[in-house]
Amino acid sequence: MARVEVRHVSKSFGNITAVEDFSLVTSDGEFIALVGPSGCGKTSIMRMIAGLETVSEGQVLFDDKDVTNELPRDRDVAMVFQNYALFPHLNVYSNLAFGLQLRKTPKAEIEARVKNVVRMLDIEELLSRRPRELSGGQRQRVALGRAIMREPRVFLMDEPLSNLDAALRMEMRAEIIKLQERLGITTFYVTHDQVEALSMGDRVVVMRSGRLQQVGTPMELYERPTNSYVAGFIGSPPMNFLAARANGSTLTLEVQDVELELSGRLSAALRESGSANILLGVRPEHVALSDHPASDGLYSLEATVDTVEPLGHTILVRTKLSSQQHINVLVSEKIPWRAGAGVHLIFRPEHIYLFDKEADRLLCGLPA
Ligand SMILES: Nc1ncnc2c1ncn2[C@@H]1O[C@H](COP(=O)(O)OP(=O)(O)O)[C@@H](O)[C@H]1O
Ligand SMILES: [Mg+2]
Repeated sequence: MARVEVRHVSKSFGNITAVEDFSLVTSDGEFIALVGPSGCGKTSIMRMIAGLETVSEGQVLFDDKDVTNELPRDRDVAMVFQNYALFPHLNVYSNLAFGLQLRKTPKAEIEARVKNVVRMLDIEELLSRRPRELSGGQRQRVALGRAIMREPRVFLMDEPLSNLDAALRMEMRAEIIKLQERLGITTFYVTHDQVEALSMGDRVVVMRSGRLQQVGTPMELYERPTNSYVAGFIGSPPMNFLAARANGSTLTLEVQDVELELSGRLSAALRESGSANILLGVRPEHVALSDHPASDGLYSLEATVDTVEPLGHTILVRTKLSSQQHINVLVSEKIPWRAGAGVHLIFRPEHIYLFDKEADRLLCGLPA
């Protein structure tokens, strides 16, 4: 177990900057989910923490000790990858035992640890099988088992579940959370799936083009995303954005000639910032549909229903403003409208986010 500190770390490959000035301090035993689109530098960060890649600038510390120049084997981290990387010619027992055998751990101790690990992961009956005789989910369990055999100080998991189907992924997700809680090992978990990141991480790190955008608890990211990128990345379907001009305590939307009267909290935030070019954000789950415009104190926009997609417990209604911009709406009950119907989109002042469009930063999130 270790407190990991990544201090102003950058990584370049020739003239490609993979990671730029990345800093993060974990607490001991914390579960950090690292999320961002492909190519944003997630794997590079993991490899630098593991010592598999040198840093171009900055330092990595475990429990306040600088390990920047230590070899991977001296750092005592365990990695789990998307492609498992099991030895194909060894059975499950030997795959699990291999690392400890290399370290000349006594045989009796290895046997005891294997027994413990296979019980934890419910793979006792697979011990004599080779990897090719296992399903994808079983292989992933063995790969996890191999990582926990050594009881490392830090776990690094790089998209470990992306090869599994949706149902299995849910199951393994829950298992990894349980396992991590039980072992209390500081964990970095990389995913490109924001739902996975939010459901697993004590804190979530959102990356874009090699740069950290925001780190926070899932609720912090949801309620106070630092910019419209994080706001659009967290939540599915993503937040709707409307461009607007601020004038005093009203907002004039660009898409429709609609003036929104701002509440005290919102207009105070606007006044303080002095921003005039605004992005108004509202999440699909915070927009309601109606035959009538909103009553006082609520906001409403005219729109046309474009598509209606039942998602099971909710319905996604894609609507279109006269400007052709789409606004996604999530509703929980059956709706009487079909494609082409005119509706009013209704939302509450306490559910809107305001961003400065030029500086791309949050001016006002959800009320505390
Ligand atoms: N060994 C390498 N040589 C050159 N460029 C690399 C190398 N590894 C990664 N990159 C580049 O660095 C950027 C970040 O890559 P990576 O860390 O793998 O991102 P992610 O894991 O988020 O998909 C990408 O532009 C990628 O092409
Ligand atoms: Mg990667």
